Amino acid sequence: MRKFNAVVLGAGGVGKSALTIRFGMNQFIEQYNPTIEEEYRCELIVDGQKCSLEILDTPGTEQFTAFNEKYLKNARGFLLVFSLTQESSLRDIDTIRQQIYLTRGADKDIPIVVVGTKLDLSNEREVSRATIHDLAQSWKLPFYETSAKRNWHVADVFEDLVRQMRKR
Ligand code: GTP
Ligand code: MG
Repeated sequence: MRKFNAVVLGAGGVGKSALTIRFGMNQFIEQYNPTIEEEYRCELIVDGQKCSLEILDTPGTEQFTAFNEKYLKNARGFLLVFSLTQESSLRDIDTIRQQIYLTRGADKDIPIVVVGTKLDLSNEREVSRATIHDLAQSWKLPFYETSAKRNWHVADVFEDLVRQMRKR
């Protein structure tokens, strides 16, 4: 069985832990508890093949510091998480995205999936479909709109990442 590891990055409070916990344990936690650092391991079947995935859930990273850089060096894949209800969180992952490419040098095929969260909060939505469509084209990365609360499209995110990691 192949083993992969991925790191979950994005601003504080956007729903990184909710996404990870929904996927790993099929639970939703309503209460906000800022993460220090948490590791999850799960097995999943993608396209009929079983694999093991280690997911590192990180604290919010609005300001990307040298402290956070260790996450960029060791991961095989990245989940860049922003909230559909918070436009500024999209800029935060842009910074992280650029940091990943800087750290990992010439490798332009690093497995990355971009995840918009809180799709269920449609009244509070700040990031439009059109914005996402344009960014997906210019960044050349897959985007997903998800809700950890409702369990919408959460598995799709992790499966996409596993498919990208398998190709390498
Ligand atoms: P840090 O660990 O501080 O970086 O935050 P985080 O990105 O891990 O955010 P977390 O998953 O803790 O979620 C923050 C708050 O948003 C919590 O109150 C969650 O319940 C809520 N939340 C997360 N995902 C969703 C979602 O899909 N829908 C709704 N309605 N709320 C969500
Ligand atoms: Mg968290």
